[in-house]
Amino acid sequence: MRRLRGRLIQPFVKEHHLRKTDLVMPLFIDEIAERPTPIPTMPGQFRYPLAGIGPVVRQLQERGIGAVLLFGIPIRKDPEGTEAYNPRGVIQLAVQRVKSEAPGVLVITDVCACEYTSHGHCGIIGEGPTGMDLRNDPSLELIAKIAVSHARAGADLVAPSCMLDGMVAAIRTALDDEGFQETGIMSYSTKFASGLYGPFREAADSGCGFGDRSTYQIHPANSREALRESEIDAREGADILMVKPGGFYLDIVSSVRALGLPVAVYQVSGEYAMIRAAAMNEWIDEKTVVMESLICAKRAGADLIITYYAADAAGWLDEEQ
Ligand code: PBG
Ligand code: ZN
Repeated sequence: MRRLRGRLIQPFVKEHHLRKTDLVMPLFIDEIAERPTPIPTMPGQFRYPLAGIGPVVRQLQERGIGAVLLFGIPIRKDPEGTEAYNPRGVIQLAVQRVKSEAPGVLVITDVCACEYTSHGHCGIIGEGPTGMDLRNDPSLELIAKIAVSHARAGADLVAPSCMLDGMVAAIRTALDDEGFQETGIMSYSTKFASGLYGPFREAADSGCGFGDRSTYQIHPANSREALRESEIDAREGADILMVKPGGFYLDIVSSVRALGLPVAVYQVSGEYAMIRAAAMNEWIDEKTVVMESLICAKRAGADLIITYYAADAAGWLDEEQ
């Protein structure tokens, strides 16, 4: 076996490759912030003010990162999440800015209500069979409205992350009705109820005021249910499927890949935080572990990788050349 591991031959027999066009950088835009604000739970990541988002994306583009996933942190929250579809809301203005200041970059928007609702759930809440909970069908209309407002602002792809039943069909219909046939849907189709979103909820101020997301996100023990979720979204018209989180769930990535659509893997905030914290303590080598995590996602079948390490990885890819 060692003949094929020689220094000269090894690059020729490498089965999987990471490219900059695999990478998507998530960015937080804060309607209140006046300067980039460090996120304590994600050292090295920032909430950016609206005025600064254009230059940030241009810098990423110069490093070879051509896709961003945008999250908005609004000034106002209410129980219905109305700020999420305000045509002059934080995310809508951010999309417009990025599209005019960095027109060559693919803009994806997270479509959800949890940053915009006062209770922190991903849609409309009400009394359900087991107490107060996210109501499915009343939330679909809200989610579709949010998606249309993002498309109107210029998003290339909308990425619904609420895990509502029927969300992709509702969004596709609404986009088509409003004349946005060209706007794609990257569905968070298989999203587990994971503790690894903790640092993000601090960053985006999107934690639940009561309860949790276990009635809409998938239990980590379930793989057939996980595949069924992505199958349904594919049937409803998703253009790209997603598995989230990444590293603990790579078996799911390889089964979702068999559905035939492009697959995105989201290396989430907790994965970033774990690697970063160990690296800051010099317990692991950051570059080695990050590049290993990314190539393993490729090996499992990822087409796209959403990672807070996108910019660093682009730099490390340059070094390898
Ligand atoms: C919104 C959303 C979440 C993430 C992406 N979109 C949080 C959640 O579901 O609670 C998590 C991303 C991350 O942890 O990096 N629904
Ligand atoms: Zn949400």
